[in-house]
Amino acid sequence: MSQSLLRKALAERTLRIRGGHESPYFQIQRKVEGRDDIIRLVRGEPDIPTPSHIIEAAKRCLDSGHIGYTPPGGMIELREAIAHKFKKDNNLEYDAESEILVTAGAQESMAVSLQTLLDPGDEVLLATPHYMAYPANITMAGGKIVYVPTVEEEDFELKPEAIEAAITDRTKLLVLVTPNNPTAGVITAETLSEIADVVRERPGLAVISDELYEKVVYDGFEHISFATLPGMRERTITINGFSKAYSMTGFRVGYMAGPADYILAATEPRHSLSISTSLPSQHAALAALHGPQEFLDEMMVEYHRRRAVMRAAFDELGVTYGEPRGGFYFFANVSGSGMDAVSFADKAVDYGLLFSPGNIFAEGAVDYIRISYLAPREELDEAMDRFRRLWNDCRSGK
Ligand SMILES: Cc1ncc(COP(=O)(O)O)c(C=O)c1O
Repeated sequence: MSQSLLRKALAERTLRIRGGHESPYFQIQRKVEGRDDIIRLVRGEPDIPTPSHIIEAAKRCLDSGHIGYTPPGGMIELREAIAHKFKKDNNLEYDAESEILVTAGAQESMAVSLQTLLDPGDEVLLATPHYMAYPANITMAGGKIVYVPTVEEEDFELKPEAIEAAITDRTKLLVLVTPNNPTAGVITAETLSEIADVVRERPGLAVISDELYEKVVYDGFEHISFATLPGMRERTITINGFSKAYSMTGFRVGYMAGPADYILAATEPRHSLSISTSLPSQHAALAALHGPQEFLDEMMVEYHRRRAVMRAAFDELGVTYGEPRGGFYFFANVSGSGMDAVSFADKAVDYGLLFSPGNIFAEGAVDYIRISYLAPREELDEAMDRFRRLWNDCRSGK
């Protein structure tokens, strides 16, 4: 097929993202499009329905007929509710008007903060395996990604020594994602404090702390916001959102908080990207924060159960994994199947099962798959039966 003029005109930085080709993540999903025999454990979208009071709030906004832009930072009522949430949940004080920006998902906060901070060639430290939007956004912002490895034996926890080893004169930014997607690992309070010690030594080093999975944690794990550690508030951008905690992926509401002079500078890039977040969605987010919070406990009871189902199947088969302490994934080592993860995930489709091979999240992760438990219990039971059959067939060379 001949190339269009526009394809030939692609910017060098676009070509650095998979040569301008489609992500294998979407290729995998397209392969099974329209097939209703497939159990999809591939995406990070909660299947638990959005609480009805949240949906009602969006509907009321639509019915009002007043659906305009808001200030780029978001409706002040929503920013006030977010500031209150920061105080209550994270022990962080942010001024609603000057220190919080509402964005189209946490993803836009990520893009805006990288665009706001990076000069060409600035290095950004990112734990790997990683959420794939980070490398793409770092590249689009002109930055250089420096991967910091995390390993199964350490439950994929990012270690201060690994950060220290990766720091150079060009390091501008450290990205922390805890709990982590895809590994489901967390950074403990002790390790966070050691990371803060490393950061404190580097006067120019800024931090993005992505806390999107903060509410999805297990076994009594207590999430700590990096910005609460001594000296970290003035150099940390805290990113969060509504997608994972309130089953609100399609509403596209997220936010970031940071010092007022940074937020002021980020406001124009934010405005230039999408002007403001959709108004019905902002009302929905406001309802999520103002409304009853029991949903979160009920959600976690359900996720605990599902995690136990998947863990039992993996333990029985001898599939190993980093301890999943946050999020709704297992980053599971399938090398015992005798196949590499890409072939294993391909073969899984023949058994009616879809998950991602780990190389989508880290170049060298040939032994791993990311598999989510975002399906109702009966479906998950069936999925694990299929997984067992797949595993046993692979091991017996079928
Ligand atoms: C670590 C992490 N950050 C950010 C996002 C973006 O989330 P959203 O834009 O839906 O808030 C995701 C989505 O999966 C994620 O896993």
